[in-house]
Formats: sequence, structure tokens, C-alpha cells
Amino acid sequence: MRILITGANGQLGHELQRNAPQNVELHALDRRALDISDGDAVAKTVARIAPHIIINAAAYTAVDKAETDHDAACAINRDGAAHLARAAQAQRARLLHVSTDFVFDGQGCTPYLPGQTPSPLGVYGASKLAGEQAVQHSGADALIIRTAWVYAAHGHNFVKTMLRLMRERPEVRVVADQIGSPTAAASLARALWALIAKNAAAGIYHYTDAGVASWYDLAHAVREITQTLSGETLAPIYPIRTEDYPTPARRPAYSVLDKTATTALIGPAPHWREALSEVLRELLQEE
Ligand SMILES: NC(=O)c1ccc[n+]([C@@H]2O[C@H](COP(=O)([O-])OP(=O)(O)OC[C@H]3O[C@@H](n4cnc5c(N)ncnc54)[C@H](OP(=O)(O)O)[C@@H]3O)[C@@H](O)[C@H]2O)c1
Repeated sequence: MRILITGANGQLGHELQRNAPQNVELHALDRRALDISDGDAVAKTVARIAPHIIINAAAYTAVDKAETDHDAACAINRDGAAHLARAAQAQRARLLHVSTDFVFDGQGCTPYLPGQTPSPLGVYGASKLAGEQAVQHSGADALIIRTAWVYAAHGHNFVKTMLRLMRERPEVRVVADQIGSPTAAASLARALWALIAKNAAAGIYHYTDAGVASWYDLAHAVREITQTLSGETLAPIYPIRTEDYPTPARRPAYSVLDKTATTALIGPAPHWREALSEVLRELLQEE
């Protein structure tokens, strides 16, 4: 099976390559090799490679910057998704398109179902929702997989930032009233490969690692696990409220995704603490 991966140098793109099954012919293209906002380039590249499956791991992911960079966020997250869906349909390829918990406003208090009405709070979430809609309206054979709170040893993310801050500062304050499910890019990549292997029906699926946490809980776990693994002493962490840490983009207070349908197909996700230990072990080994 021939697979085209976009955004190959991102957290997910990287883990998709590391976790790929042996029987696939991978064409993993980073932004320089394929800019998904360029419709002609997408059409030509997809026609040349003739993939059976396209996995779109490319995205504009700078949530705060997107608030003042609307055009770039939409060119990538909305138009890029539309270009890929059109090319997938022309090629009769299947598209796996990755989206986000930020399509929801986070006002709920029970896990969001795939069919629940989205209502994004900011430009990033709106651009990702527009991308989902472009994929759905394209008529392409597509799976949309929403995920949340992604981190990995490779790339920029909350886990690595916390580790750095806990080494640099005397104390660290972290928001404790936003709840979600931390997700290792490696677990997400394995879930995508499993969905491909199961030939899952078209539609929207949710995947995150199991369990829930606040950003404070996640930072606390990073500290605890790192101290156990490395023996170093890290700065203490204190919980604060969202209003004490203003950011350009509003974020959902509760963004837990219901993944019952995904679990029924590919089995249970690992707990986020287990997945976090795996990533921290990798990070510490690299130092
Ligand atoms: N990170 C999270 O917490 C999170 C949460 C929920 C959902 N998601 C979704 O999960 C997916 C994977 O995210 P990630 O964490 O792997 O993001 P990431 O690490 O930021 O990777 C995104 C990749 O896309 C590339 N890219 C940006 N614009 C592009 C373009 N026009 N054409 C081709 N490539 C382009 C980036 O390249 P450059 O580095 O060169 O810009 C980067 O390598 C995305 O759909 C994202 O929306 C992420």
C-alpha cells in the first residue's frame, strides 16, 4: 500500500514514520517538499505519487498566533485540507485528516461525541473546523480524526516547555481549570495505522490517550516522572486559574473527547501517564 504523509516533520508526521507498518511504501513529505496551501502542487504531487491513502499531518498549530494571522491559518487548515480532499477524490485515494478538540467551545461537562455540534472559540479552532467541513463536502472517502493535547520528544510542546521551565525557574505556575486528555503523538500515530488496517468506515473519529488531566496535573506528572527517572530535583509547580494566565486565544475549559467508537474498532488507548513516561524516557535518553 502506498501512503503519502504531509507535514512529515511535525510531531505526528515524525511518529507516523517511526511507527509505520513494514508493508507500506511511505512518501513522507515535509513542508518544503509539499506545501499543502498550494493547490497546484498538491494536485501534481498526489497525481505523481498515486497514493492509496493520504494522511494529512500538516497544520497551522500556533493557537495564539492564529488570532492575528487568520489568513495563514485558513490557507493551511481550511484550504490545505480542501486541496488534499480534492486531490484524494481525483486519485480515488482515501484521506485521513487530523483535527482538534478546539472545534468545541469546552462549555460541556461530559466527553464530546464526534457528532456533537462544534462551536470553536478562536481562529485556530475555526480554521480547523472549516478544514473538516471542506473534507466532508468534497465527497472524498475520508476519515477525520480529532485529537487533543499532543506532545512528543520531537517538536515543540507543553511537556518539553514544562521540563525546561522546571529546570530554569524557582517555581512554575500552571493553569488547573482546563481539562483534557494528554496524547502522545506516538499513540496517535499507532491509532491512525490501526484505523487504516481496520479500513474504518468514513466519518469522524476521536482519538486521545486514556484518562483526563488539567494542564497542572500534566505538568505535575512531568515533574514526578522525570525526578524518578533522572534523580534530578525540579522546581515545584503551583496551580493557577485561566484568568491568571491571559493568552490571545481563548481555550476550551473542558475538551475531553468521547472515543467509544474508536475504541470499539482498535481497542483501548494507553493511559496518558504511561504514554508520558515513554516520551520522558526518550527525552532523557537523548540528553
Ligand atoms: N499539537 C496539539 O496539541 C494538537 C492538538 C489537537 C490537534 N492537533 C492536530 O494534530 C495534527 C498534528 O499536529 P502536530 O502536533 O504534529 O503539529 P506540529 O508539530 O505543529 O506539525 C505540523 C507540521 O505541519 C507543517 N506545516 C505547516 N504548514 C504547512 C503547509 N502549508 N504545508 C505542509 N506542511 C505544513 C509544519 O511545518 P513547519 O514546522 O515547517 O511549519 C509542521 O511540521 C494537526 O492537524 C493538529 O491540528 C494537534
